[in-house]
Amino acid sequence: MSVIQETHLIQRKDSRGSLVAIEGLVDVAFDIKRIYYISGTGTDVRRGCHAHFHLKQMAVCVQGSCRFVLDNGFERVEHLLDNSATGLVIEPMVWHEMYDFSPDCVLLVLADAPYDKADYLHDYGRFIELAQSRAGDVNRLVA
Ligand code: TYD
Repeated sequence: MSVIQETHLIQRKDSRGSLVAIEGLVDVAFDIKRIYYISGTGTDVRRGCHAHFHLKQMAVCVQGSCRFVLDNGFERVEHLLDNSATGLVIEPMVWHEMYDFSPDCVLLVLADAPYDKADYLHDYGRFIELAQSRAGDVNRLVA
């Protein structure tokens, strides 16, 4: 599966403006347990720089734009998020970094679990080791 998974959200536009609704298990493939948003980020700032062991997330740039690096241990892809009707899915064990925030950027993130410090993997070397060894385990099981 590609490391970039985008979801197209329905944008309801009329003369009053635009409305995008996101329902858990309907517009996003998980039950939403937490919402957070990032704003006021300097253009030279890099955020994220971690992977999660279990957490599933979807990021939507509701205003402005920012870039992501998504890395599953085998594929590392840079991706621009600049459309408020596009959700970017961040699967567990995907290293992610966010950068190049526009001054007006508001990045909304939906998550399938409450905040848990223990679910974070901050060491990139350890991440690569784990991601590649897990893939090796799966390959051995299906061989
Ligand atoms: P941090 O994980 O550093 O953000 P990012 O991944 O964007 O670089 O989070 C910043 C602070 O906010 C840190 O003290 C942890 C806290 N935090 C919460 O309390 N709840 C949350 O849901 C998140 C994502 C962070």
